[in-house]
Amino acid sequence: MIRFVILGHRAHTTADFKLEDICGGAGRLDILTRCVNSAFFLSHDLRKDVELYLLMLGGEDAPKLIRFSGAEIRYLNPDERSTASLIRNALMKKLEPDREVRSSPGIFVSRKDLKEVMDMLSKDSNFIYLREGGTDVREYEFPENPCFILGDDRDPTEEEEAIMSQYPYDKISLGPVSLHANHCMVVVHNEMDRRRAA
Ligand SMILES: C[S@@+](CC[C@H](N)C(=O)[O-])C[C@H]1O[C@@H](n2cnc3c(N)ncnc32)[C@H](O)[C@@H]1O
Repeated sequence: MIRFVILGHRAHTTADFKLEDICGGAGRLDILTRCVNSAFFLSHDLRKDVELYLLMLGGEDAPKLIRFSGAEIRYLNPDERSTASLIRNALMKKLEPDREVRSSPGIFVSRKDLKEVMDMLSKDSNFIYLREGGTDVREYEFPENPCFILGDDRDPTEEEEAIMSQYPYDKISLGPVSLHANHCMVVVHNEMDRRRAA
């Protein structure tokens, strides 16, 4: 299983935004919708061995965690607007204590913060913090069940890094320049695809 956790620092946790305004009113939800696209879409297929976790940290009902399961997902299209609509539907769901709620096939929502997410995933994932200045990905051997952690348009804060440091992780760089989060995801998919094919 390949996992991605995206820290959506301002991503809205209430469904009170317009689909025409996902860059502004929804707290840069456009970045997260592009991450959904990059996590799953191949030219003529979907990556079924991927799970994406959007940690929504903005607005009045934070934090919320939205999980996308490649094995179960339905009704996912490549455009940002329809993905934003799926996310907005998830944000409308009434949360239940200690369990995630399904909002549509393959999309689940729950109340979790970064510490709770890492606690949960640490049971069967190996964390990889994608960050400029880390070990070059070309010299890195990917572990089983990698779980990549990325910022959105902002890097993880010092507080978030302090939480991350409670778990073992590798810090990996994808090259000498800063990339968009979803572009990072395409690059790591490509690196792993090549190694699997070799
Ligand atoms: C748009 S960047 C955040 C801001 C960026 N660090 C900057 O200074 O412009 C989004 C996230 O992608 C990841 N990232 C961006 N470039 C990277 C690179 N060259 N290597 C590894 N991760 C990278 C980091 O997790 C970063 O927080």
